[in-house]
Amino acid sequence: MCQYGIPTLKIVSFYVSSRHRNQGMLNDTLSIKINKTANSRLHEVDWDNLPFGKVFSDHILEMDYRDGEWQEPEIKPFQSLSLHPATSAIHYGQSIFEGMKANKTPDGEVLLFRPDMNAKRFAESSERLCMPVIPEDVFLELVKRIVDIDRDWIPNKEGYSLYIRPFMFATDDFIGIKPSDTYKFIIFTCPVGVYYSNPVNVKIEEFYTRAAYGGVGRAKTAGNYAASLYPAKKGKEEGFDQLVWTDGVEHKYIEESGTMNIVFVIDGKVVTPSEDSDTILRGVTKRSVVELAKHWGVEVEERKITVEEIINAIKEGKLEDAFGAGTAATIAPIAKIGFRGDVYQLPAVESRELSGKIKKYLSDVKCGLVEDEMKWCVKV
Ligand code: COI
Repeated sequence: MCQYGIPTLKIVSFYVSSRHRNQGMLNDTLSIKINKTANSRLHEVDWDNLPFGKVFSDHILEMDYRDGEWQEPEIKPFQSLSLHPATSAIHYGQSIFEGMKANKTPDGEVLLFRPDMNAKRFAESSERLCMPVIPEDVFLELVKRIVDIDRDWIPNKEGYSLYIRPFMFATDDFIGIKPSDTYKFIIFTCPVGVYYSNPVNVKIEEFYTRAAYGGVGRAKTAGNYAASLYPAKKGKEEGFDQLVWTDGVEHKYIEESGTMNIVFVIDGKVVTPSEDSDTILRGVTKRSVVELAKHWGVEVEERKITVEEIINAIKEGKLEDAFGAGTAATIAPIAKIGFRGDVYQLPAVESRELSGKIKKYLSDVKCGLVEDEMKWCVKV
Protein backbone atom coordinates (compact mmCIF):
# COMPACT_ATOMS: atom_id res chain seq x y z
CA MET A 1 0.00 0.00 0.00
CA CYS A 2 1.24 3.49 -0.67
CA GLN A 3 1.10 6.40 1.76
CA TYR A 4 -2.33 7.38 0.45
CA GLY A 5 -3.79 3.96 1.11
CA ILE A 6 -4.14 3.14 -2.57
CA PRO A 7 -2.66 -0.15 -3.75
CA THR A 8 0.57 0.34 -5.69
CA LEU A 9 0.02 -0.59 -9.33
CA LYS A 10 2.02 -3.57 -10.42
CA ILE A 11 4.87 -2.80 -12.80
CA VAL A 12 4.72 -5.67 -15.20
CA SER A 13 7.67 -6.78 -17.30
CA PHE A 14 9.47 -3.54 -17.92
CA TYR A 15 11.60 -3.47 -21.04
CA VAL A 16 14.50 -4.72 -18.97
CA SER A 17 14.75 -8.35 -17.93
CA SER A 18 12.52 -9.36 -15.05
CA ARG A 19 15.29 -9.32 -12.48
CA HIS A 20 15.61 -5.58 -13.13
CA ARG A 21 11.96 -4.70 -12.61
CA ASN A 22 12.27 -3.06 -9.25
CA GLN A 23 13.98 0.13 -8.36
CA GLY A 24 17.62 -0.06 -7.43
CA MET A 25 18.16 -2.91 -9.87
CA LEU A 26 18.49 -1.19 -13.20
CA ASN A 27 21.77 -1.63 -15.01
CA ASP A 28 22.84 -0.61 -18.48
CA THR A 29 20.47 -3.07 -20.17
CA LEU A 30 17.85 -0.31 -20.51
CA SER A 31 17.01 -0.17 -24.18
CA ILE A 32 15.86 3.06 -25.80
CA LYS A 33 15.04 3.67 -29.43
CA ILE A 34 16.97 6.74 -30.55
CA ASN A 35 16.22 8.81 -33.61
CA LYS A 36 18.32 11.97 -33.58
CA THR A 37 17.32 15.11 -35.43
CA ALA A 38 19.15 16.00 -38.62
CA ASN A 39 18.16 19.66 -38.21
CA SER A 40 19.22 21.02 -34.85
CA ARG A 41 17.61 24.35 -33.90
CA LEU A 42 20.44 25.21 -31.53
CA HIS A 43 21.77 28.01 -33.74
CA GLU A 44 18.37 29.76 -33.61
CA VAL A 45 18.52 30.35 -29.84
CA ASP A 46 19.03 33.88 -28.58
CA TRP A 47 21.06 32.96 -25.48
CA ASP A 48 21.05 36.54 -24.19
CA ASN A 49 17.27 36.77 -24.20
CA LEU A 50 16.09 33.43 -22.94
CA PRO A 51 12.51 33.55 -21.64
CA PHE A 52 11.37 30.91 -19.16
CA GLY A 53 9.75 27.87 -20.76
CA LYS A 54 9.32 29.02 -24.35
CA VAL A 55 12.41 27.57 -26.01
CA PHE A 56 12.49 23.81 -26.46
CA SER A 57 15.54 21.61 -27.04
CA ASP A 58 15.95 19.38 -30.07
CA HIS A 59 14.62 16.09 -28.66
CA ILE A 60 11.74 14.58 -26.73
CA LEU A 61 11.49 11.24 -24.94
CA GLU A 62 8.23 9.32 -25.11
CA MET A 63 7.24 6.07 -23.44
CA ASP A 64 3.78 4.52 -23.63
CA TYR A 65 2.01 2.30 -21.15
CA ARG A 66 -0.47 -0.24 -22.51
CA ASP A 67 -1.57 -3.82 -21.88
CA GLY A 68 -0.29 -3.46 -18.32
CA GLU A 69 3.32 -2.77 -19.40
CA TRP A 70 5.60 0.11 -20.18
CA GLN A 71 6.73 -0.07 -23.79
CA GLU A 72 10.20 0.67 -25.11
CA PRO A 73 10.97 4.39 -24.71
CA GLU A 74 11.93 6.45 -27.72
CA ILE A 75 13.97 9.62 -28.05
CA LYS A 76 13.08 11.50 -31.22
CA PRO A 77 13.12 15.00 -32.69
CA PHE A 78 10.98 17.42 -30.64
CA GLN A 79 7.50 17.38 -32.10
CA SER A 80 3.83 18.01 -31.34
CA LEU A 81 1.48 15.31 -30.12
CA SER A 82 -1.56 14.07 -31.94
CA LEU A 83 -4.37 13.24 -29.51
CA HIS A 84 -7.84 11.73 -29.73
CA PRO A 85 -10.46 14.33 -28.69
CA ALA A 86 -11.66 11.97 -25.94
CA THR A 87 -8.19 11.58 -24.41
CA SER A 88 -9.16 11.20 -20.77
CA ALA A 89 -6.44 13.44 -19.27
CA ILE A 90 -7.91 16.40 -21.12
CA HIS A 91 -11.34 15.82 -19.62
CA TYR A 92 -10.62 14.50 -16.14
CA GLY A 93 -7.11 15.67 -15.34
CA GLN A 94 -5.27 12.41 -14.74
CA SER A 95 -1.97 14.13 -15.36
CA ILE A 96 1.19 14.66 -13.30
CA PHE A 97 4.54 16.34 -13.84
CA GLU A 98 7.93 17.20 -12.38
CA GLY A 99 10.31 20.13 -12.71
CA MET A 100 14.06 19.56 -12.54
CA LYS A 101 17.22 21.34 -13.64
CA ALA A 102 20.54 20.41 -15.24
CA ASN A 103 23.64 22.60 -15.27
CA LYS A 104 27.19 22.40 -16.59
CA THR A 105 30.35 22.59 -14.52
CA PRO A 106 33.31 24.67 -15.80
CA ASP A 107 34.78 21.35 -17.06
CA GLY A 108 31.70 20.67 -19.14
CA GLU A 109 30.33 17.95 -16.87
CA VAL A 110 26.54 17.84 -16.64
CA LEU A 111 24.93 17.78 -13.17
CA LEU A 112 21.35 17.06 -12.12
CA PHE A 113 20.22 18.49 -8.79
CA ARG A 114 18.74 15.85 -6.44
CA PRO A 115 16.93 13.96 -9.23
CA ASP A 116 16.23 11.06 -6.86
CA MET A 117 13.78 13.31 -5.01
CA ASN A 118 11.89 14.06 -8.22
CA ALA A 119 11.81 10.36 -9.12
CA LYS A 120 10.32 9.56 -5.71
CA ARG A 121 7.78 12.38 -5.83
CA PHE A 122 6.77 11.36 -9.37
CA ALA A 123 6.13 7.82 -8.13
CA GLU A 124 4.08 9.18 -5.21
CA SER A 125 2.06 11.45 -7.49
CA SER A 126 1.45 8.45 -9.79
CA GLU A 127 0.05 6.41 -6.94
CA ARG A 128 -2.23 9.22 -5.76
CA LEU A 129 -3.59 9.72 -9.30
CA CYS A 130 -4.05 5.95 -9.90
CA MET A 131 -1.35 5.90 -12.57
CA PRO A 132 1.29 3.22 -13.15
CA VAL A 133 4.50 3.88 -11.25
CA ILE A 134 7.79 4.21 -13.08
CA PRO A 135 10.55 2.65 -10.96
CA GLU A 136 12.68 5.47 -9.59
CA ASP A 137 15.93 4.24 -11.12
CA VAL A 138 14.27 3.93 -14.52
CA PHE A 139 12.90 7.47 -14.23
CA LEU A 140 16.39 8.72 -13.39
CA GLU A 141 17.99 6.85 -16.27
CA LEU A 142 15.47 8.25 -18.76
CA VAL A 143 16.11 11.79 -17.49
CA LYS A 144 19.85 11.27 -17.88
CA ARG A 145 19.48 9.97 -21.44
CA ILE A 146 17.39 12.89 -22.73
CA VAL A 147 19.61 15.44 -20.98
CA ASP A 148 22.71 13.78 -22.39
CA ILE A 149 21.38 13.92 -25.95
CA ASP A 150 20.64 17.65 -25.63
CA ARG A 151 23.61 18.56 -23.42
CA ASP A 152 24.60 21.33 -25.85
CA TRP A 153 21.35 23.08 -24.92
CA ILE A 154 22.48 23.63 -21.33
CA PRO A 155 23.14 27.37 -20.97
CA ASN A 156 26.52 28.51 -19.70
CA LYS A 157 25.28 31.74 -18.16
CA GLU A 158 24.97 32.35 -14.41
CA GLY A 159 21.43 31.77 -13.14
CA TYR A 160 20.47 29.89 -16.32
CA SER A 161 19.78 26.15 -16.55
CA LEU A 162 18.27 23.42 -18.63
CA TYR A 163 14.79 22.96 -17.18
CA ILE A 164 13.58 19.35 -17.44
CA ARG A 165 9.89 18.58 -17.62
CA PRO A 166 8.94 14.91 -17.13
CA PHE A 167 5.18 14.33 -17.22
CA MET A 168 2.61 11.58 -17.61
CA PHE A 169 -1.02 11.67 -18.66
CA ALA A 170 -3.92 9.30 -19.25
CA THR A 171 -4.47 8.48 -22.91
CA ASP A 172 -7.58 6.26 -23.06
CA ASP A 173 -10.02 7.64 -25.61
CA PHE A 174 -13.02 7.07 -23.37
CA ILE A 175 -15.63 9.43 -21.99
CA GLY A 176 -16.47 7.44 -18.84
CA ILE A 177 -14.70 8.13 -15.56
CA LYS A 178 -12.22 5.49 -14.42
CA PRO A 179 -8.45 5.24 -14.21
CA SER A 180 -7.14 5.03 -17.75
CA ASP A 181 -5.65 1.77 -19.00
CA THR A 182 -3.10 3.59 -21.15
CA TYR A 183 -0.66 6.44 -20.43
CA LYS A 184 2.05 8.46 -22.07
CA PHE A 185 5.21 9.46 -20.24
CA ILE A 186 7.19 12.29 -21.83
CA ILE A 187 10.31 14.27 -21.03
CA PHE A 188 11.29 17.44 -22.83
CA THR A 189 13.78 20.08 -21.83
CA CYS A 190 14.03 23.88 -22.15
CA PRO A 191 17.04 26.13 -21.70
CA VAL A 192 15.76 28.77 -19.28
CA GLY A 193 16.63 32.12 -17.79
CA VAL A 194 15.29 33.43 -14.50
CA TYR A 195 11.68 32.76 -13.52
CA TYR A 196 11.16 35.96 -11.52
CA SER A 197 13.40 38.87 -12.37
CA ASN A 198 12.29 40.89 -9.31
CA PRO A 199 11.27 40.20 -5.71
CA VAL A 200 7.59 39.29 -5.53
CA ASN A 201 4.65 40.93 -3.80
CA VAL A 202 2.22 38.44 -2.33
CA LYS A 203 -1.24 38.54 -0.79
CA ILE A 204 -2.37 36.23 1.99
CA GLU A 205 -5.43 34.51 0.54
CA GLU A 206 -8.30 33.94 2.94
CA PHE A 207 -11.08 32.77 0.66
CA TYR A 208 -9.78 30.56 -2.14
CA THR A 209 -7.97 27.31 -1.34
CA ARG A 210 -5.11 25.57 -3.12
CA ALA A 211 -5.66 22.17 -1.55
CA ALA A 212 -8.07 20.45 0.82
CA TYR A 213 -7.14 17.88 3.46
CA GLY A 214 -7.46 14.46 1.89
CA GLY A 215 -7.22 16.00 -1.58
CA VAL A 216 -4.35 16.02 -4.06
CA GLY A 217 -2.30 18.96 -2.73
CA ARG A 218 0.78 16.86 -2.09
CA ALA A 219 0.78 15.46 -5.62
CA LYS A 220 2.30 17.42 -8.48
CA THR A 221 -0.81 17.15 -10.59
CA ALA A 222 -2.08 19.48 -13.29
CA GLY A 223 -5.40 20.29 -11.59
CA ASN A 224 -3.70 21.94 -8.59
CA TYR A 225 -2.19 24.49 -10.94
CA ALA A 226 -5.43 24.98 -12.90
CA ALA A 227 -7.31 25.62 -9.65
CA SER A 228 -4.80 28.29 -8.63
CA LEU A 229 -5.20 30.38 -11.77
CA TYR A 230 -8.42 32.22 -10.96
CA PRO A 231 -7.45 33.23 -7.40
CA ALA A 232 -4.00 34.28 -8.69
CA LYS A 233 -5.69 36.38 -11.41
CA LYS A 234 -7.84 38.11 -8.75
CA GLY A 235 -4.69 38.74 -6.71
CA LYS A 236 -2.99 40.26 -9.79
CA GLU A 237 -5.94 42.60 -10.25
CA GLU A 238 -5.18 43.86 -6.74
CA GLY A 239 -1.52 44.39 -7.66
CA PHE A 240 0.04 41.19 -6.26
CA ASP A 241 2.32 38.82 -8.18
CA GLN A 242 1.31 35.76 -6.22
CA LEU A 243 -0.84 34.52 -3.35
CA VAL A 244 0.14 33.00 -0.03
CA TRP A 245 -2.14 30.00 0.33
CA THR A 246 -3.70 29.25 3.70
CA ASP A 247 -5.39 26.07 4.93
CA GLY A 248 -8.77 25.29 3.43
CA VAL A 249 -10.64 24.90 6.75
CA GLU A 250 -9.94 28.06 8.76
CA HIS A 251 -7.58 30.05 6.50
CA LYS A 252 -5.51 30.40 9.62
CA TYR A 253 -2.33 28.51 8.74
CA ILE A 254 0.15 29.37 6.02
CA GLU A 255 0.79 26.61 3.48
CA GLU A 256 2.56 27.66 0.26
CA SER A 257 3.20 30.68 -1.93
CA GLY A 258 2.01 30.67 -5.53
CA THR A 259 3.60 27.59 -7.14
CA MET A 260 6.36 27.43 -4.51
CA ASN A 261 6.89 26.40 -0.92
CA ILE A 262 7.32 29.27 1.54
CA VAL A 263 10.07 29.89 4.09
CA PHE A 264 10.40 32.63 6.74
CA VAL A 265 13.29 33.79 8.88
CA ILE A 266 11.97 35.00 12.24
CA ASP A 267 14.33 36.16 14.94
CA GLY A 268 17.24 34.26 13.39
CA LYS A 269 15.29 30.99 12.99
CA VAL A 270 14.20 29.41 9.72
CA VAL A 271 10.48 28.66 10.00
CA THR A 272 8.51 26.82 7.32
CA PRO A 273 5.16 24.97 7.22
CA SER A 274 5.59 21.32 8.08
CA GLU A 275 4.95 18.83 5.30
CA ASP A 276 2.89 16.57 7.55
CA SER A 277 -0.21 18.10 6.04
CA ASP A 278 -1.14 16.40 2.77
CA THR A 279 -2.04 19.81 1.37
CA ILE A 280 1.60 20.81 0.93
CA LEU A 281 3.88 19.77 -1.92
CA ARG A 282 7.14 18.22 -0.77
CA GLY A 283 9.50 20.59 -2.52
CA VAL A 284 13.06 19.67 -3.45
CA THR A 285 14.33 23.26 -3.08
CA LYS A 286 12.53 23.75 0.25
CA ARG A 287 14.03 20.50 1.58
CA SER A 288 17.46 21.69 0.45
CA VAL A 289 16.98 25.04 2.21
CA VAL A 290 16.05 23.25 5.43
CA GLU A 291 18.98 20.80 5.23
CA LEU A 292 21.46 23.51 4.34
CA ALA A 293 20.34 25.84 7.13
CA LYS A 294 20.65 22.98 9.65
CA HIS A 295 24.06 22.05 8.23
CA TRP A 296 25.20 25.64 8.79
CA GLY A 297 23.99 25.55 12.40
CA VAL A 298 20.87 27.66 11.90
CA GLU A 299 17.86 26.64 13.96
CA VAL A 300 15.01 25.36 11.78
CA GLU A 301 11.39 24.83 12.75
CA GLU A 302 9.07 22.89 10.47
CA ARG A 303 5.65 23.37 12.00
CA LYS A 304 2.27 24.99 11.61
CA ILE A 305 2.57 28.76 11.14
CA THR A 306 -0.41 31.03 11.69
CA VAL A 307 -1.03 34.12 9.59
CA GLU A 308 -1.30 36.01 12.88
CA GLU A 309 2.23 34.98 13.85
CA ILE A 310 3.64 36.33 10.59
CA ILE A 311 1.76 39.62 10.78
CA ASN A 312 2.84 40.10 14.42
CA ALA A 313 6.44 39.25 13.53
CA ILE A 314 6.36 41.90 10.81
CA LYS A 315 4.88 44.49 13.18
CA GLU A 316 7.46 43.69 15.86
CA GLY A 317 10.34 43.88 13.38
CA LYS A 318 11.15 40.17 13.92
CA LEU A 319 10.44 38.96 10.39
CA GLU A 320 13.87 39.11 8.80
CA ASP A 321 13.06 37.30 5.59
CA ALA A 322 10.36 35.57 3.58
CA PHE A 323 10.90 33.75 0.32
CA GLY A 324 9.40 31.22 -2.04
CA ALA A 325 11.39 28.06 -2.76
CA GLY A 326 10.86 26.09 -5.97
CA THR A 327 12.76 24.48 -8.80
CA ALA A 328 11.84 27.06 -11.42
CA ALA A 329 12.47 30.15 -9.29
CA THR A 330 14.95 28.57 -6.80
CA ILE A 331 14.76 31.30 -4.13
CA ALA A 332 12.23 34.06 -4.80
CA PRO A 333 12.46 36.85 -2.21
CA ILE A 334 9.13 38.30 -1.07
CA ALA A 335 9.20 42.10 -1.01
CA LYS A 336 5.71 42.89 0.31
CA ILE A 337 2.92 40.94 1.98
CA GLY A 338 -0.70 42.06 1.63
CA PHE A 339 -3.23 41.11 4.29
CA ARG A 340 -6.79 42.38 4.78
CA GLY A 341 -6.18 45.58 2.86
CA ASP A 342 -2.82 46.41 4.46
CA VAL A 343 0.47 45.98 2.65
CA TYR A 344 3.55 45.24 4.74
CA GLN A 345 7.01 46.05 3.42
CA LEU A 346 9.62 43.41 4.33
CA PRO A 347 13.33 44.13 4.96
CA ALA A 348 15.42 45.10 1.94
CA VAL A 349 16.45 42.05 -0.07
CA GLU A 350 20.14 43.06 0.10
CA SER A 351 20.00 42.79 3.91
CA ARG A 352 18.80 39.18 3.88
CA GLU A 353 22.02 37.34 4.57
CA LEU A 354 20.82 33.78 5.02
CA SER A 355 18.61 33.46 1.93
CA GLY A 356 21.28 35.27 -0.10
CA LYS A 357 23.86 32.74 1.07
CA ILE A 358 21.51 29.81 0.42
CA LYS A 359 20.68 31.07 -3.08
CA LYS A 360 24.36 31.47 -3.93
CA TYR A 361 25.29 28.05 -2.54
CA LEU A 362 22.48 26.32 -4.46
CA SER A 363 23.41 28.09 -7.67
CA ASP A 364 27.12 27.29 -7.19
CA VAL A 365 26.69 23.67 -6.17
CA LYS A 366 24.47 23.00 -9.20
CA CYS A 367 27.29 24.25 -11.43
CA GLY A 368 30.08 22.44 -9.57
CA LEU A 369 31.61 25.72 -8.33
CA VAL A 370 31.69 24.67 -4.66
CA GLU A 371 32.16 21.34 -2.97
CA ASP A 372 28.98 19.27 -2.99
CA GLU A 373 29.17 18.52 0.73
CA MET A 374 25.68 17.04 0.89
CA LYS A 375 26.23 14.83 -2.20
CA TRP A 376 23.19 16.32 -3.93
CA CYS A 377 24.35 16.44 -7.53
CA VAL A 378 24.24 13.49 -9.89
CA LYS A 379 26.42 13.37 -12.99
CA VAL A 380 24.85 12.63 -16.33
C1 COI B 1 8.75 24.33 -10.64
O1 COI B 1 9.18 25.11 -9.78
O2 COI B 1 9.48 23.57 -11.27
C2 COI B 1 7.33 24.26 -10.90
O3 COI B 1 6.84 23.22 -11.16
C3 COI B 1 6.59 25.53 -10.85
C4 COI B 1 6.04 26.00 -12.14
C5 COI B 1 7.00 26.22 -13.25
C6 COI B 1 4.82 25.26 -12.52
